[in-house]
Amino acid sequence: MASSLALGALAIILWFLVHRYRNFARNLAAAKSSGLPVVLMPLNVYSVFWLATYNVWLPLLRKLPSSCHGIWLQLLDPEWAYREGFSPFAKVGSDVLIAVSPSSIHAFVADAEVITQITTRRNDFPKPLQMYTRLNIYGKNVVSTEGLDWRMHRKLTAPSFSDKNNEVVFLESLHHAQALLRLWTGSGGGGDQTINDPATDTMRFALYVISRAGFGVRVAWPHEEEDQQAGMDDAEDSMLVGSKIPPGHKMNYREALSILLENIMWTQVGPPEYLSRSPFKIHREVGTALIEWGKYMNELYSAKEAEIATGQNSGGMDLFGALIRGSGILDDPESGRKTELEKSDLMGNAFVIMLAGHETTANALHFSLVFLAQNLDSQKRLQDDLDRTIQGKPIEKWTFEEEFPRLFNGMAAAVMNETLRMLQPIINIPKSTAPGRPQLVTMGGRTYVIPENTHIYLSCAVHRNPKYWPSPPDDDRYDGLKDVERFRPERWLVDTKAPAAAATEHTKFDDEDLRGPSGADTSAHLFKPVKGSYIPFSDGYRSCIGRRFAQVEILAVLAVIFQHYSVELAVDEFASDAEVEAMRKGGKERKAVWQKAADRADHLLRKTMGSIITLQLRGNTIPLRFVRRGEERFMFD
Ligand code: HEM
Ligand SMILES: *[C@@H]1O[C@H](CO)[C@@H](O)[C@H](O)[C@H]1NC(C)=O
Repeated sequence: MASSLALGALAIILWFLVHRYRNFARNLAAAKSSGLPVVLMPLNVYSVFWLATYNVWLPLLRKLPSSCHGIWLQLLDPEWAYREGFSPFAKVGSDVLIAVSPSSIHAFVADAEVITQITTRRNDFPKPLQMYTRLNIYGKNVVSTEGLDWRMHRKLTAPSFSDKNNEVVFLESLHHAQALLRLWTGSGGGGDQTINDPATDTMRFALYVISRAGFGVRVAWPHEEEDQQAGMDDAEDSMLVGSKIPPGHKMNYREALSILLENIMWTQVGPPEYLSRSPFKIHREVGTALIEWGKYMNELYSAKEAEIATGQNSGGMDLFGALIRGSGILDDPESGRKTELEKSDLMGNAFVIMLAGHETTANALHFSLVFLAQNLDSQKRLQDDLDRTIQGKPIEKWTFEEEFPRLFNGMAAAVMNETLRMLQPIINIPKSTAPGRPQLVTMGGRTYVIPENTHIYLSCAVHRNPKYWPSPPDDDRYDGLKDVERFRPERWLVDTKAPAAAATEHTKFDDEDLRGPSGADTSAHLFKPVKGSYIPFSDGYRSCIGRRFAQVEILAVLAVIFQHYSVELAVDEFASDAEVEAMRKGGKERKAVWQKAADRADHLLRKTMGSIITLQLRGNTIPLRFVRRGEERFMFD
C-alpha cells in the first residue's frame, strides 16, 4: 500500500518534470527563433510565488560560487530594471532581450525604436489584462480594459483632462502646497525641523489634490482643521471634509481613502464581506475602508446627479460630474439614446483615476526633494530660475496661463523630467503578444520576431541607455558614476538639436475624443529625447491620460516650496543640532556629516526600493528639513 502510494507520488513528480521540461523546450525554441539574445531562467520572476518569497532566496543564490553567477541571477530580482539599469542589456549586447522559463517568455525592451513600434501598434501588442484585474474592485475602467471596451472608457474620461480642469489642478496644488509647507516648516514658518517621513506627507498632498480636482471634495489637513474655512473662498462648490465622521459612516473620508490606497494589495484577498470578518486587523480595516469609500462615492454620485438633473453646474471641472454627464445615464429615455454604461463603470473609473493619479505624482515629488537635497548645485539653480520667472510675485497672484508655461520651460520642469528619468514610477510597462500571433519588429535595420504569448516589458532601463542620453563632452564620469546614472537636471536645459525630430510627433488618434491631455509636451529650446527613449508616462495610445495633470501639480508644488525655502538632508542620526552649530559653516566637518547623510540616502535609493504598484522606498525613510533660503545649514563651494 505504502509502496504504491510512493510510486504514485513518484509518477506525478516525473510527469511534472517531463511536462515542465517540454514546456521549457518549447518556449526556448520559440525564443531562439526570435533572433534576439535569450537568457535561461529557472522560473517566472513575476509569478506570485517568486514575488512573495524572492527576498528569502535571492541572498542565498548570490552566495553561489561566482562561476555560477550570470545574467540570470541579475534578472531574478524583480526590480532589476531599476537596480541594474542598462547593464544586463550591455552584457548581452542588445537593447532587447528575452528571458525564458518553463512557464513564461518575457521580452525586455530598452530600445526606443522597438518601444515606439509596440506603443503604436496597439492591436498587435495589447496590455496583458490579467495583470490588471486587481484594479477592478469597483468596476472595469480605462486602465484595465482593451479594444472597444477601452475606447468607451477613454471617451468617457478624456473630457475631464481638459486644460480647464488643469487650471483647477494648478490652483488646488498651490493651496495644498502651502498647507504642506506649513506642516513642514511649522506655523511660524521657521522650518529647520526634521521631517522623518516626507513620503507620507507627499502622498497626502497628492491625494488631496486629486480629491478636489477629480471629485470636488476638498480635504482639510489635520494640522489645519481649525482654519479650514479660511481657504474656502475659491471653492464654494466643493464639499469640505475633515476628521468628523458623518452620520451613517464608520470612517472619515480621508481615512477611508488612505487606508484603501495604502493597502490595495489586501483587497485581492477576497470580497469586502470576507475581509471584514478576517482574523487579521489590517484585513478588517481594509474591508471597512473599501465599503466606506464606496459609500462616499455613492453619496457624491447622488449629489452630482441631483445637481446635474436640476441644471446646476459646478463649472464642469470635476471628473465625477463630467463622467455622469458623459455617461448618458441621465439622458431622457424619451429621446431614445441608449444607456450603455453601468454605474460600476463610473465607480471603476473614479477609483482607478484616484489611484493612478496620486501615488505616481506623490513619488515624483518626494524623490525630486530627495534628489535636490543631495544635489545642492541643482537646487540653487532651480531657485535662481524661480527668482527670474516668478519675480517675487505672491502665490495668490499666480495664474495657470502665466506661471505654468514659464515653469514648464525652466529648471523646475528639468528637475521633474530628470526625477522621472532616474526613477520611473512604473519600472516595467507591461504589453504582450496574443496566443497564435507572433509579431515582427525592426531594430537597427534588422527584423526580429517576438514570439506568440510573450509578456513584454518596456523597461525603464531605456532611460539609462547611453545611446540616448549623451554625457557632456568633458565629463564622462563623476564620483565614479557614469553620467546616465547621475541626477543631472541640467541635461534637459542644453540647447541641443534633437537627434530625431520625431519627438514632437503626436500619436495620431483615429478619434480625437480619445486624446486626453491637451498641450504640447515639448518646448523648442530644450533637450528632446529620441521618441521612445523617455517613457515615464508610457507612450502612444495607452499613454498616461493624466500626464498634464501630473506635470501641472508637480511644477506648482516645486515652485511654492523653492520660492522661499531650501530642502536639506536631516543629519540627526550623525550629529545633534548643537554639534552642527559648533562646526564652521561650509567647513570640512560639516561637509563630512552631510556626506554621511548623503551616502545613507544613496544607499537606500539603490538597495531598498521596491514596487507594489509603483517604485518606492520600502521600510525606510530619508528624513529631510526645510529651511528658509539663506538659512541653510549645509552649503559648500
Ligand atoms: C508623475 C505622475 C504619473 C506617472 C509617472 C504616470 C504614469 C503612467 C503610465 C506609465 C501609464 C501607462 C500604464 C499602463 O500601460 O498600464 C499611465 C496610464 C494612466 N494614467 Fe498615469 N501617471 C502619472 C499621473 C497620473 C495622473 C495624475 C492621473 C489622473 C489624474 C493618471 C491617470 C492615468 C490613467 C487614467 C491611465 C490609463 C490611460 C489609458 O490606458 O488610456 N496618471 N500613467
Ligand atoms: C521634459 O521632457 C519632455 C519630453 O517628455 C521634453 O519635451 C521637455 O522639453 C522637457 N522639459 C524640459 C524643461 O527640459
